[in-house]
Formats: sequence, structure tokens, C-alpha cells
Amino acid sequence: MERPFPTVAVVGLGTMGAGVAVAVAKSGRRVIGIEANEDSAARALARIEEATAHAVARERITAEERAGLLARISVGHGLAAAAEADLVIEEVPEQLELKREVFAELDRICPESTVLATGTTALSVTRIAAATARPERVLGLHFFNPVHTMKLVEVVRTVLTAPQVAEDAAAFARDLGKEPVAAGDRAGFVVNGLLFAYLNQAAAMYESRYATREDIDAAMRLGCGLPMGPLALLDLIGVDTARTVLEAMYEQSRDRLHAPAPILGQLVSAGLLGRKSGRGFYTYEAPGSSRAVDAATGPARAQVPGREVRSVGVCGSGTMATGIVEVFAKAGYRVLLAARSLEKAEKAKAQLARSLERSVAKGRMTAEQRDAALGLVTPVGQYAELAEVDLVVEAVAENLEVKRELFATLDKIVKPGAVLATTTSSLPVISCASATSRPQDVIGMHFFNPAPAMKLVEVVSTVLTAPDVTATVLELCAKVRKHPVECGDRAGFIVNALLFPYLNDAVRMLQEHYATVDDIDTAMKLGCGYPMGPFELLDVVGLDVSLTIEKVLHQEFREPGLAAAPLLEHLVAAGCLGRKTGRGFRDHARR
Ligand SMILES: NC(=O)c1ccc[n+]([C@@H]2O[C@H](COP(=O)([O-])OP(=O)(O)OC[C@H]3O[C@@H](n4cnc5c(N)ncnc54)[C@H](O)[C@@H]3O)[C@@H](O)[C@H]2O)c1
Repeated sequence: MERPFPTVAVVGLGTMGAGVAVAVAKSGRRVIGIEANEDSAARALARIEEATAHAVARERITAEERAGLLARISVGHGLAAAAEADLVIEEVPEQLELKREVFAELDRICPESTVLATGTTALSVTRIAAATARPERVLGLHFFNPVHTMKLVEVVRTVLTAPQVAEDAAAFARDLGKEPVAAGDRAGFVVNGLLFAYLNQAAAMYESRYATREDIDAAMRLGCGLPMGPLALLDLIGVDTARTVLEAMYEQSRDRLHAPAPILGQLVSAGLLGRKSGRGFYTYEAPGSSRAVDAATGPARAQVPGREVRSVGVCGSGTMATGIVEVFAKAGYRVLLAARSLEKAEKAKAQLARSLERSVAKGRMTAEQRDAALGLVTPVGQYAELAEVDLVVEAVAENLEVKRELFATLDKIVKPGAVLATTTSSLPVISCASATSRPQDVIGMHFFNPAPAMKLVEVVSTVLTAPDVTATVLELCAKVRKHPVECGDRAGFIVNALLFPYLNDAVRMLQEHYATVDDIDTAMKLGCGYPMGPFELLDVVGLDVSLTIEKVLHQEFREPGLAAAPLLEHLVAAGCLGRKTGRGFRDHARR
């Protein structure tokens, strides 16, 4: 098959344009680079030469390849040169009028067959196309920065774009070694549409002082495996850019969750645009530097000394309880594993033994360490045996009545001064606390699944939790090699409150037929470096569990945008709960 678009013009050779020009030339195509004037053309050429020299130094390309590539790129000014191109990619600054002018001019200059693509992030491709007499040959090609490492390209069709043109553009992207995903013309397309709402909520969370910037960032890195925390990412993207994208999204959606958090506007007005200006949410060594100089390193530290913890009781016999027992035992704590019956407790201990056995097989621990850890765990069938422990963590069923009953029981049994912790993900910690006569001793310790592997613990203090109880848990987390983050007692804590609205947005995007399951998953993995796409994650977490958390969030914040997507409810009603039932957003039926 003939390679699509043998000659490509790139208009605007800034951050994106220069990267796109190099990627296209690398594919063996001729590139006509066009800048605004002679000076900027000279600077652009220098930028391309420098970037490709850097690529040689990093051994991404050879010196020979660089010479060939540079020979295929011409850089000049004046749009007339675009007349020879089969495809023109516009990468001028993000201003609608400027882009419309460029397109109107290109439309006059280029033959009818030439395809015109815009690199816009948040402007309407349709409105740009309307500046031409060939809207069927206009589309968006949204590359990601830096172009040489980011594999994703969103191919944006308007209602007028000819299907063949979009197909050719996707084939072109593939030929550059990129992964195209199809998107419609909506502010943010797939990736930014999902990413920026989340970043905005993180900014709002910080602004309301619900948690510190370090804790918000650490929570999302460690709790979800994201490559960067949201506030650090906002600094990287540019606070001004993020605000512009959110404005455009809000303009179209009228969803308050897209209305830029006031803090973004304040930072922009103050000239604190992120890394590029040396300060945004964090302060950097110098403008353009990636080294934050004022970020607190390490996990949250307590202000007051904590209570002494020598022995621990864990209530429950499920996945979380067993995992939490493993965490404490491995760190050398004596643990009483308390279940509703001795038989259940012994089964849970057997489960723990198997888990430790796997660690030995994988070379993560020695047989002696395994035996030592197991030796510290005593299964008990009655909560009465927890009387002397210094801390109890409960991980029983996620049901408020069950938990309240347990806390009332513990209140009668456990010695005064012991810390009582719940690992609930979605229930109010204060409702557990109020079932006792000592709410000051009750706190949330939200572990993540699998507890032995996941480093994060959300430490949730209620309005009544005593400061030395918070301190106890923060210190204990450090001793069991977990990274604690501190937050208040509201729905979703940090991680789920930021994660589930994003997952819900993805479901809504699917439900609206805006993009497919595969395209959305691919886009988030390649565009944001996420370890899993939203639908992969929903299928793993369980659609029923996700729905419950989304309902709790909606109930707490009453934001219309947080209402669970009907498609999620339908799938749950149909029994499609994800991997555990063999079917969720994807079919996992065993072949
Ligand atoms: N920077 C990113 O992370 C990123 C990522 C994806 C998409 N985008 C989008 O890509 C586009 C380009 O952004 P950028 O970050 O590369 O901007 P930039 O400011 O780095 O580069 C724009 C270039 O266009 C040139 N230019 C201005 N007017 C021109 C004209 N009339 N004719 C020819 N050239 C002209 C400028 O001299 C400059 O070199 C924007 O639409 C932006 O939203 C940016």
C-alpha cells in the first residue's frame, strides 16, 4: 500500500511543531517547515538541529540518520511553500483567530486534495475547519509532548471530516510509529477530557486544605501507580495551559467539575505558572527545572509523640485483614488475628502462610523470616482476646451496622488507651467512632489492596480523633514501611475521591459513544503513562464496588457531575461485575 502523505508541511515549529517535523522526517517523508518570519525560522531550525543532536547523544538515532533526517526538512517562512504538501499540520499557538487565519490562507494556497490538520489541544476543530471551503478534509492530529517519546496521537474527526481522511491520518500516525486513537471534536478529546477534570479536583482539594500537596501527590502515585502526582503534573503542564483547557471544557460541558478551581486563576494571575516560571504549586530550583526545592520529602510527620504500640489485633479474615496481618508480622509485631470463629481465623492464617510461601519462592524473604513472621501471628476466635493489644485494626465487611457493632464490642473489651482503627474505604470513620465511648481513640487506616505490596495508607482523623492517636498511626506506618498520608473524614478520602470521578467520566465517555473501550484505555496508558486504562481498572476493582463508591461520593458532595453513569448501573444490574464474574466492560470468559 502506498504510504499516506509523502510530503508534509508543518506550520509553527515551536515545542510541538519541531517535534512533529522531526518525527515525520524520521519516517522518510519530506517536511516543509514554516515559521512566522525569518528570525523565528532561524531559531526553529536551530531548535531542530539541537534536538536531533541530543537524540544522537542519547543514542536514539545515529549521526547518519540525523544527517538524512535534517536533509529532508526545509525551514522557511510564508505559507506559500505548503502548496507542495499532501498534508499540512498546523502547530501555531493556541489561539482560535490565529488558527482560523492560518487555515483560511492554507485553503487558498493548497490544492483541493491537501488534507489540513490542526494540532489544537482545546479549541474546536470544527470552528477551525469552518474557516476553509474544505471542512471534509480538515481534522485534528493531537500529538503529545515530548513528541519523540509519546506514542499517542488523537485523530479528531468533526462531523464533516470524511471517513477516508481520518483513516489516512490514522495510517499516517501508525507509519510514524505512533498509536492513533479516534476521537470526536470535543474540548479535551479523550485524554485531556479525562485528565483535566481529575487535575482540577486535585487542585480544589489542595485549595480547601483537605490534604497537603505532598500527600495528595503521594496518594495518587502510591495508591494508583500513577507516574506523577496531580499537582506536580499541573506544574509540568503549566497552570495557565491547564486553566485554558478547563475553561474550554467548562464552556462545552457546563459541568462544575470542569470550572477551573479558583487557585488556578490565582496562580496564573501571580505569574506562578509551574515549572516553566520556577514556581507553581511547588517552587523549583530555577525556571524550567524539574527539581522542587520546597517539597517536604518523606511521609507525613506527627506534631506530637504517639502512644506505644507493641502488639496489634486485626479483626477479619478476608483479603484485606490477611494482608494487614502480613504487614505487621513482617515488621516484627505480635499480631492477634481475630475472626468470628477460631476456624475462620485459622483459615486466614493458612492463607497468610501461603502468601509468605510465595514471597519465599520469589526470593523476597528467607524461610527463617517466613517462620518468624508466622510465629508472631496467633489466630483467635473471640474478640475478647484482644483485651491487651495496643492497637486494633478492623477489616471486616464494608457494612456500617457490622462495623458499628464491632466497635461497640471492642469498646467493651479493649484496654483504655488502645487505638481503634478501621480500614473502611467508603464509610464515615466518625460513625464507627460514635459506636464507642472513646471516639478520641478511633481513626481510619485505609490500606490498599494487596496490603503487603501497596505502600500507601490513608490516615483518616475525624473531628474527634486525638492528636496523639493520629501520631501513633503515622509513626506505626513508618515502622511497618508504609507511606502514610493524612486526610479528613470525608467520602473517598484522597485517592478514591480523585480516582472514581475519573473512572465515571470514562464510563460516560463510552456511554456517549465518544470513543471505544480500547481507544480510551490506550489513550490513558499512552497519553498519561497510567499503568492501566480506566476500563481495565474498573474490571479489576469490580463494577459493583466502583458503583458503591461513586454513589457514596455523589451522596456526600451532591455534584451532578459525580452521579454514577447509567451504563455502570446497567452493567451492575446485569451481573457484569468485571473480572470476578468473567464479564464487565470486557469479556474475560476463559477460552
Ligand atoms: N506544548 C504542549 O504540551 C502541547 C501538547 C499537545 C498539543 N499542543 C498544541 O500544539 C499547538 C502548538 O503548541 P506549542 O506548545 O508547540 O506552541 P509554541 O508556542 O511552542 O510554538 C508555536 C510556534 O508557532 C510559531 N508561529 C506563530 N504564528 C505563526 C504563523 N502565523 N505561522 C507560522 N508559525 C507561527 C511560533 O513562532 C512558534 O514557534 C497548540 O495548538 C497547542 O495547544 C501543545
